Amino acid sequence: MSRELATIKQILHIVEELGHIKDLDSLLDRILKEARNLTNADAGSIYLVEGDKLNFSFVQNDTLFKDDGTSKYFYSDKKMELNQKSMAGYVAITGKTLLIDDAYNIPEDVPFTFNTSFDKSANYKTTSILAAPLKTSADKIIGVIQIINAKNNKGEVIKFTENNKIYVNYFATNAAVAIERTLLTRELILRMLKMSELRDPKETGAHVNRVGAYSAELYEAWANKKEIGKKEIKSTKDLVRLASMLHDVGKVAISDLILKKPAKLTQDEFEIMKYHTIFGAILFKDPKSEMDRLSTEIALNHHEKWDGTGYPGFVDGNIFEDEIEDIKMGPGKKGEEIPLYGRICAIADVYDALISRRVYKDAWDENEVLDHFKEQSGKHFDPELVELFFSIYETIKAIRNKFRD
Ligand code: C2E
Ligand code: SIN
Ligand code: SIN
Ligand code: SIN
Ligand code: FE
Ligand code: FE
Repeated sequence: MSRELATIKQILHIVEELGHIKDLDSLLDRILKEARNLTNADAGSIYLVEGDKLNFSFVQNDTLFKDDGTSKYFYSDKKMELNQKSMAGYVAITGKTLLIDDAYNIPEDVPFTFNTSFDKSANYKTTSILAAPLKTSADKIIGVIQIINAKNNKGEVIKFTENNKIYVNYFATNAAVAIERTLLTRELILRMLKMSELRDPKETGAHVNRVGAYSAELYEAWANKKEIGKKEIKSTKDLVRLASMLHDVGKVAISDLILKKPAKLTQDEFEIMKYHTIFGAILFKDPKSEMDRLSTEIALNHHEKWDGTGYPGFVDGNIFEDEIEDIKMGPGKKGEEIPLYGRICAIADVYDALISRRVYKDAWDENEVLDHFKEQSGKHFDPELVELFFSIYETIKAIRNKFRD
């Protein structure tokens, strides 16, 4: 097989795999890694267009960040104006692919300059650059992939070739489609939330945003305490936020009579209401997607209690295969039998339920709510997480202020 054919087959194979990655950060990570592989490049970054800004979303660099699996890339939320003064901006606007042989000796007839600040702050020397637009099939440019310092087999920095340009362009188009798909998934999640808001008027956007944000902050506090890596915290935090926003979507399967009852539920009604946890979990069954895995975990476990008195517990039956009538709730999960994100979301959800007014009850005073959490620490709630919740309470209040009903 010719080398060209082998390369094309390799690209097709990667593209097929990209189709299985659902969360944005893992996807960008993989795309950048593969583009660098194709060209044997030392470093690279991805920028995404967000309105009139260009967001520096991802960077990998083998020389600066050693290959221990976690620290070789870092995140930056740096946004810059989308205009032709930067190289990435030029590519995003014109859709042209650039081959630069020497970043410090750029042709005079172009509108952009090379920004040396990254090199300076990281003590790195960028020489050759290949920058290609991330263009979807509808010719929409959603970002730019920039790969840096091609190397020969002796590890010396060389120029990128015309062949590199062709392959990277082809790959970038497919990558753009995959990126667009995960952005669409995000859009789909927001629509799903909208739908449950229509079904249940008390599931307001504000409530859902607050529960998502409290959970995300509580996760971050927990992860910092456990000394989890920065990169992992950042990507997981985002997923925890989205998945927690979806904690109650299973309520869409509960009848209006119960869901909208402006008074206390009877015991029988409450028994039915409890199934919103299982209905929610059933909605997300693709275990290949980290987002789906987390959403299932949270929907299913957000009403478990630390002392084992919560629900649905260890259910009898397979929630993904059996008829719902055949699924019986079981003995409550206890302590760390309850998955972490379920324990986190329980605190976020109850805090918001108590501090807010509901059609069936008034809002509680803040002090009553805090006393309730102290009293229920080790009973309803994971005591370690309650302590962390208090330690970030200023942030919690700021979130309450930001998302008002
Ligand atoms: P939700 O309104 O999101 O409430 C979430 C959780 O916050 C509740 O889970 C409960 O643990 C806590 N919580 C809410 N209000 C109170 C309260 O007044 N006192 C105390 N101690 N805790 C409270 P839970 O009990 O499993 O309820 C699940 C969902 O069932 C609730 O979600 C709500 O949608 C519905 N629900 C529960 N009780 C009633 C009720 O009496 N009437 C109506 N209409 N719906 C209810
Ligand atoms: C993400 O953007 O990280 C999550 C979106 C998704 O998985 O749908
Ligand atoms: C809910 O039922 O969980 C939402 C109530 C609220 O708006 O706080
Ligand atoms: C409830 O009010 O339905 C449950 C209260 C709790 O266990 O915290
Ligand atoms: Fe719930
Ligand atoms: Fe809720």
